[in-house]
Amino acid sequence: MPIKNSLLAIIGQGYVGLPLAIAAIDAGWRVVGVDNSGERVVTLNRGISPVEDVSSWQIQDAIATGMYIATEDFSDIASADVVAICVPTPLDSDRNPDLHPLLSAVRSIEPHVRKGAVVVSESTSYPGTLRNVIIPIFENGLGLKDREVYFAAAPERVNPGDQVWNQKNTPRLVGGLNPESQEKALDFYNSICDSVISVSSPEIAEASKLLENTFRLVNIALIHEFTQLCDSQDIDVNQVIDAASTKPYGFMPFRPGVGIGGHCIPVDPLYLTWWANQNGQSARLVQLADEVSNAMPTYVANRVMKLAPVHKNEVNVMLLGVAYKAGLSDVRETPARALRERLLNQGCVVEWHDPLVEEWEGSNSVDISWDCDVAVIVTNQPGIDVIYLSNKGVPILDCTNSYSGLSGVTLI
Ligand SMILES: NC(=O)c1ccc[n+]([C@@H]2O[C@H](COP(=O)([O-])OP(=O)(O)OC[C@H]3O[C@@H](n4cnc5c(N)ncnc54)[C@H](O)[C@@H]3O)[C@@H](O)[C@H]2O)c1
Repeated sequence: MPIKNSLLAIIGQGYVGLPLAIAAIDAGWRVVGVDNSGERVVTLNRGISPVEDVSSWQIQDAIATGMYIATEDFSDIASADVVAICVPTPLDSDRNPDLHPLLSAVRSIEPHVRKGAVVVSESTSYPGTLRNVIIPIFENGLGLKDREVYFAAAPERVNPGDQVWNQKNTPRLVGGLNPESQEKALDFYNSICDSVISVSSPEIAEASKLLENTFRLVNIALIHEFTQLCDSQDIDVNQVIDAASTKPYGFMPFRPGVGIGGHCIPVDPLYLTWWANQNGQSARLVQLADEVSNAMPTYVANRVMKLAPVHKNEVNVMLLGVAYKAGLSDVRETPARALRERLLNQGCVVEWHDPLVEEWEGSNSVDISWDCDVAVIVTNQPGIDVIYLSNKGVPILDCTNSYSGLSGVTLI
Protein backbone atom coordinates (compact mmCIF):
# COMPACT_ATOMS: atom_id res chain seq x y z
CA MET A 1 0.00 0.00 0.00
CA PRO A 2 1.68 3.27 -1.03
CA ILE A 3 1.41 5.50 2.03
CA LYS A 4 2.03 8.89 0.44
CA ASN A 5 -1.32 10.68 0.29
CA SER A 6 -3.10 7.71 1.87
CA LEU A 7 -5.74 8.64 4.39
CA LEU A 8 -6.32 6.89 7.69
CA ALA A 9 -9.54 7.57 9.59
CA ILE A 10 -9.40 6.78 13.30
CA ILE A 11 -12.71 6.54 15.14
CA GLY A 12 -12.19 7.52 18.78
CA GLN A 13 -9.42 9.91 19.77
CA GLY A 14 -8.51 8.65 23.22
CA TYR A 15 -5.72 6.68 24.86
CA VAL A 16 -5.61 4.31 21.88
CA GLY A 17 -6.75 6.36 18.91
CA LEU A 18 -4.60 9.42 19.45
CA PRO A 19 -1.21 7.66 19.84
CA LEU A 20 -2.18 5.60 16.76
CA ALA A 21 -2.75 8.86 14.87
CA ILE A 22 0.71 10.14 15.78
CA ALA A 23 2.40 6.81 14.94
CA ALA A 24 0.64 6.76 11.55
CA ILE A 25 1.55 10.39 10.82
CA ASP A 26 5.17 9.59 11.66
CA ALA A 27 4.93 6.79 9.11
CA GLY A 28 3.60 9.17 6.43
CA TRP A 29 -0.19 8.76 6.72
CA ARG A 30 -2.60 11.66 6.69
CA VAL A 31 -5.05 11.18 9.52
CA VAL A 32 -8.59 12.27 10.15
CA GLY A 33 -9.44 11.72 13.80
CA VAL A 34 -13.18 11.24 14.33
CA ASP A 35 -14.69 11.60 17.77
CA ASN A 36 -18.31 11.99 18.82
CA SER A 37 -17.30 14.30 21.63
CA GLY A 38 -17.48 17.82 20.25
CA GLU A 39 -15.47 19.07 23.20
CA ARG A 40 -12.64 16.65 22.43
CA VAL A 41 -12.63 17.63 18.76
CA VAL A 42 -12.36 21.32 19.64
CA THR A 43 -9.55 20.60 22.12
CA LEU A 44 -7.63 18.59 19.54
CA ASN A 45 -8.04 21.15 16.78
CA ARG A 46 -6.69 23.76 19.21
CA GLY A 47 -3.59 21.58 19.43
CA ILE A 48 -4.14 20.42 22.99
CA SER A 49 -3.52 16.78 23.82
CA PRO A 50 -5.96 15.13 26.24
CA VAL A 51 -3.71 12.07 26.80
CA GLU A 52 -0.27 11.79 28.38
CA ASP A 53 1.29 9.64 25.66
CA VAL A 54 0.86 12.36 23.03
CA SER A 55 2.23 15.85 23.53
CA SER A 56 0.39 18.98 22.45
CA TRP A 57 3.26 19.97 20.19
CA GLN A 58 2.92 16.69 18.28
CA ILE A 59 -0.71 17.53 17.52
CA GLN A 60 0.12 21.16 16.68
CA ASP A 61 2.87 20.03 14.33
CA ALA A 62 0.59 17.49 12.63
CA ILE A 63 -2.16 20.09 12.17
CA ALA A 64 0.31 22.69 10.84
CA THR A 65 1.70 20.27 8.24
CA GLY A 66 -1.81 19.30 7.10
CA MET A 67 -1.36 15.71 8.30
CA TYR A 68 -4.05 15.75 10.99
CA ILE A 69 -7.48 17.11 11.62
CA ALA A 70 -10.08 16.14 14.19
CA THR A 71 -13.75 16.06 13.29
CA GLU A 72 -17.17 15.11 14.58
CA ASP A 73 -18.42 14.59 11.05
CA PHE A 74 -18.33 10.92 10.05
CA SER A 75 -18.72 11.78 6.36
CA ASP A 76 -15.11 13.04 6.53
CA ILE A 77 -13.98 9.41 6.37
CA ALA A 78 -15.45 8.97 2.88
CA SER A 79 -12.09 8.90 1.10
CA ALA A 80 -10.21 6.97 3.81
CA ASP A 81 -8.13 3.99 2.71
CA VAL A 82 -8.14 2.54 6.21
CA VAL A 83 -10.66 3.07 8.99
CA ALA A 84 -9.47 2.06 12.48
CA ILE A 85 -12.06 1.72 15.21
CA CYS A 86 -10.68 2.74 18.63
CA VAL A 87 -13.78 3.41 20.73
CA PRO A 88 -14.37 2.31 24.34
CA THR A 89 -15.70 -1.16 25.16
CA PRO A 90 -16.72 -0.77 28.81
CA LEU A 91 -19.01 -2.75 31.10
CA ASP A 92 -22.63 -1.90 31.79
CA SER A 93 -24.13 -1.54 35.26
CA ASP A 94 -24.51 -5.35 35.47
CA ARG A 95 -20.82 -5.73 34.60
CA ASN A 96 -21.63 -7.20 31.19
CA PRO A 97 -20.05 -5.98 27.91
CA ASP A 98 -21.46 -2.63 26.86
CA LEU A 99 -21.07 -2.45 23.10
CA HIS A 100 -23.12 0.74 22.72
CA PRO A 101 -20.13 2.96 21.82
CA LEU A 102 -18.87 0.34 19.35
CA LEU A 103 -22.28 -0.19 17.76
CA SER A 104 -22.83 3.54 17.50
CA ALA A 105 -19.39 4.06 15.92
CA VAL A 106 -19.89 1.30 13.37
CA ARG A 107 -23.38 2.53 12.45
CA SER A 108 -21.96 6.02 11.98
CA ILE A 109 -19.08 4.98 9.72
CA GLU A 110 -20.91 2.33 7.73
CA PRO A 111 -22.62 4.62 5.18
CA HIS A 112 -19.33 6.44 4.48
CA VAL A 113 -16.80 3.63 4.13
CA ARG A 114 -15.75 3.53 0.48
CA LYS A 115 -15.33 0.52 -1.75
CA GLY A 116 -11.88 -1.00 -1.31
CA ALA A 117 -11.28 0.43 2.15
CA VAL A 118 -9.95 -1.62 5.05
CA VAL A 119 -11.85 -1.51 8.34
CA VAL A 120 -9.87 -2.66 11.38
CA SER A 121 -11.19 -2.94 14.89
CA GLU A 122 -8.62 -2.15 17.57
CA SER A 123 -11.20 -2.04 20.36
CA THR A 124 -10.99 -4.91 22.83
CA SER A 125 -13.95 -7.26 22.68
CA TYR A 126 -14.95 -10.91 22.81
CA PRO A 127 -14.19 -13.31 19.95
CA GLY A 128 -16.71 -12.95 17.15
CA THR A 129 -17.24 -9.21 17.55
CA LEU A 130 -15.83 -8.38 14.13
CA ARG A 131 -17.62 -11.20 12.34
CA ASN A 132 -20.94 -11.22 14.19
CA VAL A 133 -21.39 -7.64 15.38
CA ILE A 134 -19.45 -5.25 13.13
CA ILE A 135 -19.77 -6.87 9.72
CA PRO A 136 -23.57 -7.45 9.91
CA ILE A 137 -24.01 -3.69 10.33
CA PHE A 138 -22.31 -3.27 6.95
CA GLU A 139 -24.34 -6.09 5.41
CA ASN A 140 -27.59 -4.59 6.68
CA GLY A 141 -26.59 -1.08 5.65
CA LEU A 142 -25.43 -0.24 2.16
CA GLY A 143 -24.33 -3.85 1.82
CA LEU A 144 -21.07 -5.46 0.83
CA LYS A 145 -21.96 -6.95 -2.56
CA ASP A 146 -21.12 -3.94 -4.73
CA ARG A 147 -18.84 -2.38 -2.16
CA GLU A 148 -15.97 -4.64 -1.34
CA VAL A 149 -14.66 -3.74 2.11
CA TYR A 150 -11.84 -5.56 3.88
CA PHE A 151 -12.09 -6.36 7.57
CA ALA A 152 -9.62 -7.30 10.28
CA ALA A 153 -9.29 -7.38 14.05
CA ALA A 154 -6.06 -5.92 15.40
CA PRO A 155 -6.55 -5.37 19.13
CA GLU A 156 -4.47 -2.59 20.57
CA ARG A 157 -1.97 -3.53 23.27
CA VAL A 158 -0.81 -0.05 24.27
CA ASN A 159 0.27 0.45 27.86
CA PRO A 160 -0.39 4.14 28.62
CA GLY A 161 2.54 5.90 30.23
CA ASP A 162 5.03 3.22 29.16
CA GLN A 163 8.33 4.87 28.21
CA VAL A 164 9.60 1.82 26.30
CA TRP A 165 6.70 0.14 24.55
CA ASN A 166 4.57 2.13 22.14
CA GLN A 167 2.44 1.74 19.01
CA LYS A 168 5.50 1.32 16.82
CA ASN A 169 7.58 -1.20 18.71
CA THR A 170 4.84 -3.29 20.33
CA PRO A 171 4.23 -6.36 18.16
CA ARG A 172 0.81 -6.15 16.56
CA LEU A 173 -1.57 -9.07 16.07
CA VAL A 174 -3.64 -8.95 12.90
CA GLY A 175 -6.48 -11.34 12.07
CA GLY A 176 -8.20 -10.69 8.75
CA LEU A 177 -11.61 -11.94 7.70
CA ASN A 178 -10.21 -13.52 4.53
CA PRO A 179 -6.85 -13.63 2.71
CA GLU A 180 -7.43 -10.31 0.88
CA SER A 181 -8.38 -8.57 4.11
CA GLN A 182 -5.37 -10.08 5.84
CA GLU A 183 -2.99 -8.88 3.16
CA LYS A 184 -4.34 -5.33 3.22
CA ALA A 185 -4.45 -5.11 7.01
CA LEU A 186 -0.90 -6.47 7.25
CA ASP A 187 0.24 -3.84 4.73
CA PHE A 188 -1.31 -1.14 6.85
CA TYR A 189 0.23 -2.27 10.13
CA ASN A 190 3.58 -3.03 8.53
CA SER A 191 3.71 0.62 7.50
CA ILE A 192 3.41 1.68 11.17
CA CYS A 193 4.69 -1.12 13.40
CA ASP A 194 8.12 -2.74 13.63
CA SER A 195 6.65 -6.19 14.11
CA VAL A 196 3.32 -7.48 12.83
CA ILE A 197 2.09 -10.98 13.56
CA SER A 198 -0.36 -12.55 11.18
CA VAL A 199 -2.89 -14.79 12.95
CA SER A 200 -5.32 -17.05 11.18
CA SER A 201 -8.64 -15.37 12.02
CA PRO A 202 -10.16 -12.29 13.68
CA GLU A 203 -11.29 -14.56 16.52
CA ILE A 204 -7.70 -15.58 17.30
CA ALA A 205 -6.70 -11.92 17.51
CA GLU A 206 -9.73 -11.01 19.65
CA ALA A 207 -9.28 -13.98 22.00
CA SER A 208 -5.52 -13.32 22.36
CA LYS A 209 -6.22 -9.87 23.71
CA LEU A 210 -8.62 -11.28 26.29
CA LEU A 211 -6.10 -13.96 27.25
CA GLU A 212 -3.32 -11.38 27.74
CA ASN A 213 -5.35 -9.26 30.14
CA THR A 214 -7.02 -12.19 31.88
CA PHE A 215 -3.56 -13.64 32.50
CA ARG A 216 -2.72 -10.43 34.35
CA LEU A 217 -5.95 -10.42 36.37
CA VAL A 218 -5.54 -14.02 37.49
CA ASN A 219 -1.91 -13.53 38.52
CA ILE A 220 -2.62 -10.28 40.34
CA ALA A 221 -5.53 -11.95 42.14
CA LEU A 222 -3.22 -14.79 43.20
CA ILE A 223 -0.81 -12.26 44.68
CA HIS A 224 -3.68 -10.46 46.41
CA GLU A 225 -4.73 -13.70 48.06
CA PHE A 226 -1.14 -14.62 48.84
CA THR A 227 -0.62 -11.21 50.46
CA GLN A 228 -3.44 -11.84 52.89
CA LEU A 229 -2.21 -15.34 53.71
CA CYS A 230 1.32 -14.04 54.38
CA ASP A 231 0.05 -11.10 56.44
CA SER A 232 -1.93 -13.45 58.70
CA GLN A 233 1.36 -15.16 59.60
CA ASP A 234 3.50 -11.99 59.72
CA ILE A 235 5.40 -12.82 56.56
CA ASP A 236 6.45 -9.96 54.30
CA VAL A 237 4.90 -10.82 50.92
CA ASN A 238 7.18 -8.48 48.99
CA GLN A 239 10.24 -10.31 50.31
CA VAL A 240 8.58 -13.57 49.28
CA ILE A 241 8.02 -12.25 45.76
CA ASP A 242 11.62 -10.99 45.59
CA ALA A 243 12.85 -14.39 46.68
CA ALA A 244 10.65 -16.30 44.23
CA SER A 245 11.79 -13.96 41.45
CA THR A 246 15.34 -15.31 41.71
CA LYS A 247 14.10 -18.43 39.91
CA PRO A 248 15.40 -17.94 36.38
CA TYR A 249 12.46 -19.65 34.67
CA GLY A 250 8.78 -20.37 35.21
CA PHE A 251 8.02 -17.46 37.55
CA MET A 252 6.93 -13.92 36.83
CA PRO A 253 6.60 -11.36 39.64
CA PHE A 254 3.28 -9.60 40.19
CA ARG A 255 2.89 -7.19 43.12
CA PRO A 256 -0.01 -6.57 45.46
CA GLY A 257 -1.87 -3.29 45.37
CA VAL A 258 -5.15 -1.76 46.50
CA GLY A 259 -6.96 -3.67 43.77
CA ILE A 260 -7.07 -3.65 40.01
CA GLY A 261 -7.59 -0.49 38.03
CA GLY A 262 -7.86 0.99 34.57
CA HIS A 263 -10.16 0.11 31.75
CA CYS A 264 -8.46 -3.11 30.68
CA ILE A 265 -7.58 -5.51 33.51
CA PRO A 266 -10.83 -5.07 35.50
CA VAL A 267 -12.94 -5.03 32.32
CA ASP A 268 -11.61 -7.34 29.62
CA PRO A 269 -11.75 -10.57 31.69
CA LEU A 270 -15.48 -9.95 32.14
CA TYR A 271 -15.85 -9.90 28.36
CA LEU A 272 -14.33 -13.38 28.55
CA THR A 273 -16.67 -14.63 31.30
CA TRP A 274 -19.68 -13.18 29.46
CA TRP A 275 -18.60 -14.83 26.21
CA ALA A 276 -18.11 -18.14 28.02
CA ASN A 277 -21.61 -17.93 29.50
CA GLN A 278 -23.08 -17.11 26.10
CA ASN A 279 -21.57 -20.33 24.86
CA GLY A 280 -22.92 -22.40 27.74
CA GLN A 281 -19.52 -22.51 29.42
CA SER A 282 -18.23 -20.92 32.59
CA ALA A 283 -14.88 -19.28 33.30
CA ARG A 284 -14.80 -20.09 37.03
CA LEU A 285 -11.17 -19.23 37.67
CA VAL A 286 -11.60 -15.83 36.04
CA GLN A 287 -14.75 -15.13 38.05
CA LEU A 288 -12.94 -16.01 41.24
CA ALA A 289 -9.97 -13.83 40.33
CA ASP A 290 -12.38 -10.95 39.79
CA GLU A 291 -13.97 -11.59 43.20
CA VAL A 292 -10.64 -11.85 45.02
CA SER A 293 -9.34 -8.64 43.53
CA ASN A 294 -12.58 -6.79 44.20
CA ALA A 295 -12.29 -7.77 47.86
CA MET A 296 -8.79 -6.33 48.14
CA PRO A 297 -9.84 -2.74 49.01
CA THR A 298 -11.70 -4.08 52.06
CA TYR A 299 -8.53 -5.83 53.23
CA VAL A 300 -6.49 -2.66 52.62
CA ALA A 301 -9.02 -0.56 54.56
CA ASN A 302 -8.62 -2.94 57.51
CA ARG A 303 -4.84 -2.58 57.28
CA VAL A 304 -5.25 1.20 57.31
CA MET A 305 -7.36 1.01 60.47
CA LYS A 306 -4.61 -0.99 62.20
CA LEU A 307 -2.24 1.96 61.66
CA ALA A 308 -4.74 4.52 62.99
CA PRO A 309 -4.34 5.99 66.50
CA VAL A 310 -6.52 3.88 68.81
CA HIS A 311 -7.88 6.79 70.82
CA LYS A 312 -9.45 8.61 67.82
CA ASN A 313 -13.11 8.08 66.95
CA GLU A 314 -12.81 9.77 63.60
CA VAL A 315 -9.66 8.88 61.72
CA ASN A 316 -8.36 11.23 59.01
CA VAL A 317 -7.03 9.22 56.09
CA MET A 318 -5.25 10.72 53.09
CA LEU A 319 -5.13 8.66 49.89
CA LEU A 320 -1.95 9.36 47.94
CA GLY A 321 -2.33 8.92 44.19
CA VAL A 322 -5.87 8.18 43.01
CA ALA A 323 -5.18 7.65 39.29
CA TYR A 324 -5.21 3.96 38.46
CA LYS A 325 -1.59 4.10 37.37
CA ALA A 326 1.50 6.18 38.10
CA GLY A 327 2.23 8.94 35.60
CA LEU A 328 -1.38 9.21 34.40
CA SER A 329 -4.33 11.38 35.33
CA ASP A 330 -6.74 8.58 34.35
CA VAL A 331 -9.02 7.61 37.25
CA ARG A 332 -11.26 5.15 35.37
CA GLU A 333 -11.89 2.01 37.44
CA THR A 334 -9.33 3.17 40.00
CA PRO A 335 -9.29 0.92 43.09
CA ALA A 336 -8.94 4.13 45.13
CA ARG A 337 -12.70 4.52 44.74
CA ALA A 338 -13.56 1.27 46.52
CA LEU A 339 -10.93 1.94 49.19
CA ARG A 340 -12.38 5.38 49.82
CA GLU A 341 -15.87 3.89 50.17
CA ARG A 342 -14.69 1.22 52.61
CA LEU A 343 -12.90 3.82 54.75
CA LEU A 344 -15.92 6.12 54.73
CA ASN A 345 -18.04 3.15 55.84
CA GLN A 346 -15.65 2.69 58.76
CA GLY A 347 -16.34 6.29 59.80
CA CYS A 348 -13.08 7.80 58.52
CA VAL A 349 -12.71 11.26 57.04
CA VAL A 350 -11.07 10.64 53.68
CA GLU A 351 -9.23 13.18 51.56
CA TRP A 352 -6.90 12.59 48.67
CA HIS A 353 -3.78 14.05 47.14
CA ASP A 354 -2.71 13.52 43.53
CA PRO A 355 -0.58 16.05 41.64
CA LEU A 356 -1.90 14.83 38.27
CA VAL A 357 -5.63 14.64 39.07
CA GLU A 358 -7.54 17.89 39.42
CA GLU A 359 -10.98 16.64 40.34
CA TRP A 360 -12.22 13.23 41.48
CA GLU A 361 -15.45 12.00 43.09
CA GLY A 362 -16.70 15.59 43.27
CA SER A 363 -13.71 16.84 45.26
CA ASN A 364 -10.25 18.29 44.69
CA SER A 365 -6.79 17.19 45.69
CA VAL A 366 -5.83 18.44 49.16
CA ASP A 367 -2.40 19.77 50.03
CA ILE A 368 0.09 17.20 51.29
CA SER A 369 0.12 19.10 54.61
CA TRP A 370 -3.52 18.13 55.31
CA ASP A 371 -3.80 16.95 58.90
CA CYS A 372 -4.08 13.18 58.47
CA ASP A 373 -3.69 10.33 60.95
CA VAL A 374 -2.73 7.79 58.29
CA ALA A 375 -1.68 8.09 54.65
CA VAL A 376 -2.09 5.33 52.06
CA ILE A 377 0.01 5.24 48.91
CA VAL A 378 -2.49 3.89 46.40
CA THR A 379 -0.52 4.89 43.30
CA ASN A 380 3.07 6.05 43.37
CA GLN A 381 2.28 9.18 41.43
CA PRO A 382 5.31 11.37 40.63
CA GLY A 383 5.41 14.58 42.66
CA ILE A 384 3.96 13.23 45.93
CA ASP A 385 6.18 14.36 48.81
CA VAL A 386 6.16 11.14 50.83
CA ILE A 387 9.36 12.23 52.63
CA TYR A 388 7.47 15.21 54.05
CA LEU A 389 4.86 12.90 55.60
CA SER A 390 7.53 10.54 56.86
CA ASN A 391 9.38 13.44 58.55
CA LYS A 392 6.08 14.59 60.04
CA GLY A 393 5.69 11.16 61.67
CA VAL A 394 2.55 10.16 59.76
CA PRO A 395 2.08 6.36 59.54
CA ILE A 396 2.08 5.43 55.85
CA LEU A 397 0.68 2.26 54.32
CA ASP A 398 2.53 1.80 51.05
CA CYS A 399 0.51 -0.37 48.67
CA THR A 400 3.03 0.13 45.87
CA ASN A 401 6.20 -1.32 47.40
CA SER A 402 8.01 1.96 46.63
CA TYR A 403 9.19 3.27 50.01
CA SER A 404 10.53 0.23 51.78
CA GLY A 405 12.74 1.24 54.71
CA LEU A 406 11.49 4.84 54.93
CA SER A 407 10.58 5.85 58.48
CA GLY A 408 6.87 5.36 59.21
CA VAL A 409 6.25 3.25 56.12
CA THR A 410 4.53 -0.14 56.31
CA LEU A 411 4.39 -2.14 53.12
CA ILE A 412 1.17 -3.86 52.26
N1 LIG B 1 -6.36 2.66 27.27
C1 LIG B 1 -5.72 1.52 27.24
O1 LIG B 1 -4.79 1.29 28.01
C2 LIG B 1 -6.07 0.47 26.23
C3 LIG B 1 -5.09 -0.45 25.87
C4 LIG B 1 -5.39 -1.41 24.92
C5 LIG B 1 -6.68 -1.47 24.40
N2 LIG B 1 -7.63 -0.58 24.80
C6 LIG B 1 -8.95 -0.67 24.19
O2 LIG B 1 -9.04 0.33 23.18
C7 LIG B 1 -10.38 0.82 23.10
C8 LIG B 1 -10.38 2.33 23.28
O3 LIG B 1 -9.94 2.63 24.59
P1 LIG B 1 -9.37 4.06 25.01
O4 LIG B 1 -8.66 3.85 26.30
O5 LIG B 1 -8.66 4.70 23.89
O6 LIG B 1 -10.72 4.85 25.27
P2 LIG B 1 -10.84 6.42 25.55
O7 LIG B 1 -12.04 6.59 26.38
O8 LIG B 1 -9.54 6.98 26.02
O9 LIG B 1 -11.10 7.04 24.11
C9 LIG B 1 -12.20 6.70 23.34
C10 LIG B 1 -12.64 7.90 22.52
O10 LIG B 1 -13.70 7.45 21.70
C11 LIG B 1 -14.70 8.44 21.66
N3 LIG B 1 -15.95 7.80 21.33
C12 LIG B 1 -16.80 7.08 22.11
N4 LIG B 1 -17.83 6.61 21.40
C13 LIG B 1 -17.64 7.04 20.12
C14 LIG B 1 -18.38 6.90 18.93
N5 LIG B 1 -19.51 6.21 18.90
N6 LIG B 1 -17.91 7.48 17.81
C15 LIG B 1 -16.76 8.21 17.83
N7 LIG B 1 -16.02 8.37 18.94
C16 LIG B 1 -16.46 7.79 20.06
C17 LIG B 1 -14.67 9.07 23.04
O11 LIG B 1 -15.19 10.38 23.03
C18 LIG B 1 -13.16 9.05 23.35
O12 LIG B 1 -12.53 10.24 22.95
C19 LIG B 1 -11.17 0.04 24.14
O13 LIG B 1 -11.73 -1.09 23.54
C20 LIG B 1 -10.10 -0.38 25.13
O14 LIG B 1 -10.47 -1.54 25.85
C21 LIG B 1 -7.35 0.40 25.68
